[in-house]
Amino acid sequence: MHIGVIGCGYVGLVTGVCFSEMGYQVICVDNNAEKIRKLKQGKTPIYEPGLEEMLKANMRSRRLCFSGSIEEAVSKSEVIFIAVDTPTRKNGTADLSNVKKVSREIAKSMNEYRLIVEKSTVPVKTGEMVYDTIKSNVKEGIDFDVASNPEFLREGTAIKDFMHPDRVVIGTASARAVTILVKLYEPLNAPILATDIKSAELIKHSANAFLAMKISFINAIANICERSGADIRKVAKGIGLDKRIGFEFLKAGIGFGGACLPKDLDAFINISKKLGVDFKLLREVQDINDRQVTGTVKKLEKILGKLKNKTVGILGLTYKPDTDDMRNAPSLRLIDQLKEKKAKIKCYDPVGIENAKKYINGVNFCKDPYEVARDSSALILVTEWNEFKYLNFYQIKSLMEEPVIIDGRNFYDGKALRDLSFKYQGMGV
Ligand code: UGA
Repeated sequence: MHIGVIGCGYVGLVTGVCFSEMGYQVICVDNNAEKIRKLKQGKTPIYEPGLEEMLKANMRSRRLCFSGSIEEAVSKSEVIFIAVDTPTRKNGTADLSNVKKVSREIAKSMNEYRLIVEKSTVPVKTGEMVYDTIKSNVKEGIDFDVASNPEFLREGTAIKDFMHPDRVVIGTASARAVTILVKLYEPLNAPILATDIKSAELIKHSANAFLAMKISFINAIANICERSGADIRKVAKGIGLDKRIGFEFLKAGIGFGGACLPKDLDAFINISKKLGVDFKLLREVQDINDRQVTGTVKKLEKILGKLKNKTVGILGLTYKPDTDDMRNAPSLRLIDQLKEKKAKIKCYDPVGIENAKKYINGVNFCKDPYEVARDSSALILVTEWNEFKYLNFYQIKSLMEEPVIIDGRNFYDGKALRDLSFKYQGMGV
């Protein structure tokens, strides 16, 4: 099967590379010429474990190629995935102009039947817009179908998630489209759920909203643990043992970030409002998430007093480990608030520093955690990179101005650090 993927962002690129790995002939398109130039040289624009190797191998096998031309992809591929970005507008709604533009271009390039599949995360009813856009731009007599096939991969484990999904959701009104997509995904041996297009769109937003809600729920409980002397890790385990609830996404911490959960919450709240539903629950999910950062700064002030001119070291900048992605990272909100308090900031991230420099200024970027620790009055662990697990805490302590550690991810053994005379504080422990 020949597949075209429009948009070489996270989802598009992983989708294209993985489909080629499955043996399909794939052409990936992006309107960013520089990105395409690098991809043609076998260089991925994002850090994702295993992706570059897989990309190169499939390029060598001539199953994967890159182009700047939608027309080329449409002429060569029976199935076209739209995986362009849907950023948040100032008013919180999803900006679908790229989806619309690409749909128009696809339509104009079509000379025979094509199946157009939404892979970008989009609000419910976007499929209708894609259908209408194609219908009004396609040459007369050319048949086509539209489907929604949301992607559930996570950054950092994207290849595994794509290749071993919990489920594949196919939303479309067309039996022909279902047959094509079932055949396409068959090698993955995953449960396939065929729905109408709107339900598929809603599944994606609901899944991300539910995950965000789980995180904010456990963070709210973590705050109660802190005030009552309970341990959130034990509470989460006790809840998670109930199969109806499960363990996943019950790790308390400084909050969620990334390109998806925060953006999708905004978009979901807005599309619900448009449909006449005030989804207050999700607004509280956002508020709890924001308060995790504010609460961390308060904790620090409780230990150190005024933060003015105190040096605060930050370990980890990306929104989670194994990615260089800084979008909506909790570290950004934390740094802003520390700056407001006139603290001096040092920070380090194993992979994300170059990217972080595009988002953060006025801080001291360090070459390793020890340089961060030197003369710092506190360290805040924001991202649980493996590299931070086994630091030499004797050395860290000797370098610090005051031995204070705020563990924003409950990553360390608090007792062991307290035994080393650190003032240690986790999130709900
Ligand atoms: C999320 C979803 O998990 C994917 O299923 C979805 O496909 C993706 O969004 C998307 O819509 O494209 P991702 O943003 O890559 O994936 O990362 P997650 O692993 O979900 O983590 C999101 C944030 O939640 C991170 O900041 C992480 O540190 C935080 N988190 C996660 C917690 O604070 N606690 C947890 O228990 C789990």
